[in-house]
Amino acid sequence: MVRRLIGLPDFCWSIFIFPLLHGLEILDTGEVVYRETTTNGVVTQAVILECGSTLPDVYIWGFTKPGTDTIRAIVYNFGKGPKMQKLAETLGDLTVISNSASLSITKLPLDAEGLYTCQALYDTPQGARLYYYYVHLFVLVPVSKPYIVLSDSSPVEGTSMWMRCGLEEGTGPINYTWEQETREGSVSTLAQTNISVVNITWVTRNHTGWYRCLAKNQVNQQRSDRIWLDIIFGPDMPQIDVTPYSVTERGYSALERETVSLMCQASSNPPSQYVWFYNNSQVYMGPQLTIMKILRMHTGHYACLAQNTYLNTRSKKTITLTVYYPPDGTPLCSIYPANNYTDLALWCFWEGGHPQASLYWSPFPAGNNGQASSNVTLIQRGPDTANNSVFVCHGSHVSLNKSTSCSTRAWIPPGAPQCFAYATRNNEHLMMSCSWEGGSPRALLWWASSVGDMQGKSEENANVLVLRSSTIYSGKAFVCHAQHPLLAMTKTCMLKLEAPVLVTQRSVVSVYEGSDVQLTCILRANYPTTDITWYNNLKQRVVDMPKKYLLQRAAAWSNLTVREADGLQDSGQYWCSATNAVGGAEIPILLVVKRYPMPPNVTISKIMYSSRQRSDIDLEWATNTDGEMTGFIIERSWAPRSGRIREDAILWQTAAVDLEQDVRSYRIGGLDPTGLYAFRITAVNHRTIGHPSEPKTPADPPFNAYPAVIGAALVGMIIAAVATVLFFMYVVRNRNNNPRLHDLIFGMQHSQSRENINFPEDEVVSGAEAEQGPAAQPSPGPSIISARPTVSAQGLPAGDGDNEPVNVTITVMATS
Ligand SMILES: *[C@@H]1O[C@H](CO)[C@@H](O)[C@H](O)[C@H]1NC(C)=O
Ligand SMILES: *[C@@H]1O[C@H](CO)[C@@H](O)[C@H](O)[C@H]1NC(C)=O
Ligand SMILES: *[C@@H]1O[C@H](CO)[C@@H](O)[C@H](O)[C@H]1NC(C)=O
Ligand SMILES: *[C@@H]1O[C@H](CO)[C@@H](O)[C@H](O)[C@H]1NC(C)=O
Ligand SMILES: *[C@@H]1O[C@H](CO)[C@@H](O)[C@H](O)[C@H]1NC(C)=O
Ligand SMILES: *[C@@H]1O[C@H](CO)[C@@H](O)[C@H](O)[C@H]1NC(C)=O
Ligand SMILES: *[C@@H]1O[C@H](CO)[C@@H](O)[C@H](O)[C@H]1NC(C)=O
Repeated sequence: MVRRLIGLPDFCWSIFIFPLLHGLEILDTGEVVYRETTTNGVVTQAVILECGSTLPDVYIWGFTKPGTDTIRAIVYNFGKGPKMQKLAETLGDLTVISNSASLSITKLPLDAEGLYTCQALYDTPQGARLYYYYVHLFVLVPVSKPYIVLSDSSPVEGTSMWMRCGLEEGTGPINYTWEQETREGSVSTLAQTNISVVNITWVTRNHTGWYRCLAKNQVNQQRSDRIWLDIIFGPDMPQIDVTPYSVTERGYSALERETVSLMCQASSNPPSQYVWFYNNSQVYMGPQLTIMKILRMHTGHYACLAQNTYLNTRSKKTITLTVYYPPDGTPLCSIYPANNYTDLALWCFWEGGHPQASLYWSPFPAGNNGQASSNVTLIQRGPDTANNSVFVCHGSHVSLNKSTSCSTRAWIPPGAPQCFAYATRNNEHLMMSCSWEGGSPRALLWWASSVGDMQGKSEENANVLVLRSSTIYSGKAFVCHAQHPLLAMTKTCMLKLEAPVLVTQRSVVSVYEGSDVQLTCILRANYPTTDITWYNNLKQRVVDMPKKYLLQRAAAWSNLTVREADGLQDSGQYWCSATNAVGGAEIPILLVVKRYPMPPNVTISKIMYSSRQRSDIDLEWATNTDGEMTGFIIERSWAPRSGRIREDAILWQTAAVDLEQDVRSYRIGGLDPTGLYAFRITAVNHRTIGHPSEPKTPADPPFNAYPAVIGAALVGMIIAAVATVLFFMYVVRNRNNNPRLHDLIFGMQHSQSRENINFPEDEVVSGAEAEQGPAAQPSPGPSIISARPTVSAQGLPAGDGDNEPVNVTITVMATS
């Protein structure tokens, strides 16, 4: 249709008129004039086809249809008005404009296109003139509203596609303009072509948008409706935004207890689906992962996976998130000796946070101080530091808004080092102790000999040097050195070891028996100090027993008092002894207990009942010889009625004691009138007891047999009686020491006599069997010569005023 008029064959005209064509001005008035024009008309619109500017006298319009060469008349006017031909009806509403030869066509049909020829004849004064007007009429069609055809309305990014701008009609040439309107509303021209199709060989997401095409020809232009082109793409590599934002060389960081939000974005169409992973395990679905109050355990790798469910494509990005937290508590400050106790090392420690806390000491410039470290040591010159200097260590951490601190103080222990020596039990080891307590840092102590050799190891605060006890150390000195960093010089203390030296004022001490005697021992030199120990004449260690030994001690001396010295028991060599870890000493002291001389022998000169009742007896006696004496003892005994008398069964009983030395007569009362008694008298000089007198019975004239019987009995009784007296004397003498024994003999009803003799008074004598005698054990009690009763008091502490019940065995040994 567009090209319909092209190639219109007008060769027939050229046969006739070609020679006339090459000039419009025809000089020869007889020549035909040719005029050619082109007129464009628009279908259904009106158009005017002109034939000269004035009305010719005669004209004929012809029409040649394109594709044909025949010319057909449409209208003519030979001066009598235009005459329409049938053909004119097919060419729209065709009329001739009055007073001209021009044609007007309204409602131009497409078929009206063609070559219109107006042959006009003008009758001029110069003669008739013939004009040929060729009018080429083109009937143009306006473009219709275009529409868009997409090869794919949802193409995937990276593929190719085409778009066509479709048109129902329109006369060419047609120009196509493609407009793109983005989602945001900005409009741009994508392409301008004269063909209706645009190829997009590589679709990108930037092609997403509204599209319109604009078709334009000579007549008009038309816009299509907009159409949405949806490009499918993605997801891109996700982008993760961490808030609060804090980046380190190892990834992101957050402070503990903060709320941390991880936002993931990955461009995609349709939009991405997001899945979050922590250390490779899924933790959340959705674009934003929020962790309220993040904890240190939440450190790790966080991955965001974005998925395009339409394309089934995915992409993933991983970040590392480190949770920062401060160390627990506060920094720890310490002070140590450095450089062999000449300098101070200030040590500050605060570990456990992440990242490490940073520490510094004040008052010091930050330069030579440690920074980002959990552990800072600063060396400070010792003697330049004043006593009681305070140092502060400050710790700060990225997660804390204020710093914390600790402090330490350098001070010298008060006073000076103290030394002393002592020994372990039994003096096995010698311990030398040196101490200088307190201070910060602590002082270092070590022992050295007097010539300076170090002994043992050095120790802080206190140092005990242990040596095996030996006499080689006697007289040696040991020095304890103490070094403290704040002091330029060491401090010392010294010990000198010395074995004990004992002296006594009197090495032989004599005393009369019965008195107390004091032995003295003086300890001259000794270190470590020790006590004086006493050993008695039996080489037994002396312990305090108030009845016998009294010990008095002071630092440098010891007195041993032997009480009521007994001539037989207490005489002999005593020792005082002192031992320390470096030696020992022992000195003997001889104690001589002098006995008083034997008192004279006594004879009973008169013995008789004072009355017929026989309850009282008058005694008179005399001393046979001269001699010192202090008094007399009267004893009595039962005289058995039967003829047989056992000597060992006669036991003497004290009837009177402590009679003055000048008394020679005495009355004894309270006797059993039916009983028969024997009496004897013994002189006493202090503790020395003389020989007893011969026993006598009181005279009783009516019964003559008595004296003979008694006399016979007495012969056998004598020896036993002597022993008995000695025993009683012992008991009496020791009645304070052995009250039980005394009571047993004198105060208790305990008759074991075989003869079952009844004594008139409630006094009992316990006679033991002979077989018990020699087997008696040695005991701490008195050692007694033969023919004296031996008293074995098992468990009886000699001289002890002890109230425990005791076993007492009394053995009477008769030796003749
Ligand atoms: C558009 O691309 C297709 C396929 O690649 C091709 O056949 C066609 O000729 C192209 N058209 C234009 C106008 O480039
Ligand atoms: C889309 O357009 C933006 C901005 O014009 C450009 O930076 C980007 O590279 C384009 N993307 C593609 C896939 O062409
Ligand atoms: C996650 O991984 C990090 C780094 O490997 C690790 O330190 C952390 O302990 C892990 N967390 C858990 C809960 O496994
Ligand atoms: C440390 O000091 C003491 C005395 O102050 C000295 O005897 C000792 O040799 C020193 N030790 C060192 C390793 O310097
Ligand atoms: C150092 O200070 C301590 C503590 O205050 C004190 O006990 C000591 O005596 C002082 N020493 C000196 C040498 O001043
Ligand atoms: C110990 O004995 C000495 C010498 O006999 C004497 O001088 C001193 O006073 C006595 N000490 C006591 C406490 O009796
Ligand atoms: C005293 O008596 C004893 C024995 O009865 C006797 O051995 C001694 O010789 C007497 N002494 C004197 C001086 O007669």
